[in-house]
Amino acid sequence: MFCKSWLLVSLLILLNVLLLYFTATTLERRKWRKVARKLGNYHVAYPQNYRFILDQPEKCEQQKPFVVVIVPVAPENFEARNAIRITWGSEKLVRDRVVLVLFLLGSRSGNETLQEKLQNESQQYQDLLQSNFQDSYRNLTIKTMVMMEWLSRKCQQASYAVKVDADVLLNMNNLIKMLVNLKKLQHNYITGLVMFGNTVLRDPSSKFYVPHDVYPKSRYPPYPLGMCYIFSMDLPEKILQISMHIRPIFIEDAYLGMCLKRLGITPKKPPNIGQFVVRPPPQFNRCYYSKLIAILTESVTQLISFWMDIHSSSKPC
Ligand SMILES: *[C@@H]1O[C@H](CO)[C@@H](O)[C@H](O)[C@H]1NC(C)=O
Ligand SMILES: *[C@@H]1O[C@H](CO)[C@@H](O)[C@H](O)[C@H]1NC(C)=O
Ligand SMILES: *[C@@H]1O[C@H](CO)[C@@H](O)[C@H](O)[C@H]1NC(C)=O
Repeated sequence: MFCKSWLLVSLLILLNVLLLYFTATTLERRKWRKVARKLGNYHVAYPQNYRFILDQPEKCEQQKPFVVVIVPVAPENFEARNAIRITWGSEKLVRDRVVLVLFLLGSRSGNETLQEKLQNESQQYQDLLQSNFQDSYRNLTIKTMVMMEWLSRKCQQASYAVKVDADVLLNMNNLIKMLVNLKKLQHNYITGLVMFGNTVLRDPSSKFYVPHDVYPKSRYPPYPLGMCYIFSMDLPEKILQISMHIRPIFIEDAYLGMCLKRLGITPKKPPNIGQFVVRPPPQFNRCYYSKLIAILTESVTQLISFWMDIHSSSKPC
């Protein structure tokens, strides 16, 4: 009798333990599935049929720029666009070469007020390109690809194009000098701060985590950092063509590297790597900005570009 109930109790305990174990693992699995769903979408949707709702279709035809500079920016980031318009983006003729600066936006569906503001801004400055895909950090690759579409269809007049983030300061004078010094017009040319053999991050908590089945190799092909790259105008069409055969991942510069590799094109180191500065000297903070404008107009600074978050400093000037 005693033996029987003892057996029953231990059986019940065992059952309980098993039940707890299985509940815990299912909960754990569910949690990770949720994380994967949330982070998921390592690929982006690029069916090549997005269209431009704000466009400057005649701009290149009219101005025949030597260089066209495209700045991807979030729709609501009016501040960054205005900062660029009154600083480095205000230069239209540099060393006798025409430069054209345009902003590239995605869409925020459902915000009519924002869209109306953008329409007004576009009318006022005529420098906005807006595509109808959903603007988000995870969709940056789509932005780069619609930029390639726009360049190849609407700006064949230009010799070179530059993609530069909105928080980078571009020294136009040094840029033009660098391109003119290349002597003959380049083909299959792309330069910037080139990463050779960057490792693919496999830590799921990383912002740039890419699972093995999305990209199996341990290193990416060479690519210029997305903050600023400069390329010859024969490339956009080639990149678009090859992209149809390579499923786009959300890391836009690494994806660009994947396309270039398939094209057999290696990004070149810039003639002067010191001109691409990721961390600016400490004096280049928000308060230094006004001084910088003066330096820029005198065109004496030795920097082509560097990170500069003009809103990062909260200290009063
Ligand atoms: C629409 O955009 C404006 C301007 O950026 C912003 O202030 C507002 O909060 C947005 N409204 C909605 C519903 O997201
Ligand atoms: C856009 O411009 C029109 C005409 O100038 C103005 O009436 C309207 O308030 C502006 N819209 C926004 C959202 O700023
Ligand atoms: C990216 O854009 C597509 C097309 O507009 C949209 O369906 C998708 O939800 C967007 N993804 C993200 C993460 O914003």
